[in-house]
This record gives sequence, structure tokens and C-alpha cells, in this order.
Amino acid sequence: MRVSYCYLLLLFLFPSSPKYFSQLCGANPDPTNGFVSVPLSEYNFELQKPYDIPLEQRYSYVDGVRHLWVYADDKPHNPNSQTQPRTEVRIRGLDYSSGIWQFEGYGFVPNGTSGATVAQIHGAAQGATTIILRIYNGDMRYYSGDLVATDLYDKWFRLNIVHDVDGGTVTVYIDGLRKFQVKDKGPGDLYFKCGVYAAPRNISYYMESRWKDIKIYKKC
Ligand SMILES: *[C@@H]1O[C@H](CO)[C@@H](O)[C@H](O)[C@H]1NC(C)=O
Ligand SMILES: *[C@@H]1O[C@H](CO)[C@@H](O)[C@H](O)[C@H]1NC(C)=O
Repeated sequence: MRVSYCYLLLLFLFPSSPKYFSQLCGANPDPTNGFVSVPLSEYNFELQKPYDIPLEQRYSYVDGVRHLWVYADDKPHNPNSQTQPRTEVRIRGLDYSSGIWQFEGYGFVPNGTSGATVAQIHGAAQGATTIILRIYNGDMRYYSGDLVATDLYDKWFRLNIVHDVDGGTVTVYIDGLRKFQVKDKGPGDLYFKCGVYAAPRNISYYMESRWKDIKIYKKC
């Protein structure tokens, strides 16, 4: 990080907010710089939940915060599906197959939720997904492997996922800091999701994540 006098001065005056100051002083440019925000309405937030249960038993939307939860023995979202249980927002109407797109949301995962995908890009040239971000014991991982971020339980964190389809990369930012980058899996019918989707193994019985201020951006 480039440490400037601006950063040191602000840190000295207000020692509690170093991440914010580092952006203010240009050391870590905001991931949304150069992007335009796409207007969203509730139509863009399609909910997927266990098919045999009413939505309000797995989802609430109060004071701008979407709560999504699911149990390990819940049914899949569709009676014909063999997939793991999920309660997820599927961003609808903004599927993409080229260009540079970005998801932004403030997420919260309560301690106890483990083995849950909390955000993903669905679709790929091969396979069902381009990226899966799972919480295991408070840490965020790429699928069950690479560590993206640690110590995320019981706090709001800002998540930005940038998908450069043309360049073939996906970049993940937590609280404005670049944490992870990976090659994507080729173009396809692509869309963002967030919520809780049980992993194949090592899952807690109860899984929950909360989301607010979800935005979708596009680079012009
Ligand atoms: C999560 O809860 C467990 C059990 O109550 C506790 O031991 C652990 O310290 C908690 N972790 C965090 C990050 O709060
Ligand atoms: C899942 O559980 C197995 C067996 O307890 C363990 O070896 C493995 O490391 C766990 N994987 C993750 C991603 O926590």
C-alpha cells in the first residue's frame, strides 16, 4: 500500500477508520470506479427457496435487510432438482455473456453457519458456476479450496465481485480491498446470486446470510 501523508494524517486524527481513509487517499481505489450502477427494482430480485415451504419461512426483508436461511435437511428449490438446499436471491433480468460486470452487497453471516455458499456467479462455458464463495468456520473460500478472506462471522462486510468476461477473470474485494482473483470458466448465461446454498459436505444444520444495499454495476 502506498502510504501518503494524507493517509497518516487522517489516521492520526481518526484512528478507528483506516480502511476508509486508505480509499480516500487513493491507496486502494474503490472497486466501483469507472463502473455505472444499473437501476434495480424488486423484479430483479428473484427468490429461490425449498419448493415445499412458503417463502416467509426462509426469507424476510425488513428495513432494507434481506435475511435468507435454510436447513441442511430442506428440499431443493425445485422438485426435479437433485441439488443441495438453498435460499438465494437470483439477480433476474441482468444475465450477461460479455463485458465487465460487478456485484456489490453488504453481507453478514452469523457464527454457526458453515459450509454455505453465500455468493456466486451462476453459469459458465463448462460446469454450472463461474465462482462460488463459501463460508467455512468464518472464513470465505473459493469453492472448498483457496482462502479469500478470514474472520467474517457476525460483522457486516462489503463484497464486490468483478467479472471481466472479455478478459476471463473474476476478482473479489472485501471491504474495498482486493482479496482474490481467478480465471473465469468462459462465457455462458451468467448471473449473480447471494444467500445460502449448502455445500456438498461439512455443512452446519442451520445456514443464514443477510444482505443489504445490493447493486449491480457495468463498465461502459
Ligand atoms: C463462534 O461460536 C463458538 C461457539 O459458541 C465460539 O467458540 C467461537 O469463538 C465463536 N467465533 C466467533 C468468531 O465469534
Ligand atoms: C471437511 O471435513 C473433513 C472431515 O472432517 C475435513 O478433513 C476437511 O478438511 C473439511 N473440509 C473443509 C473445507 O472444512
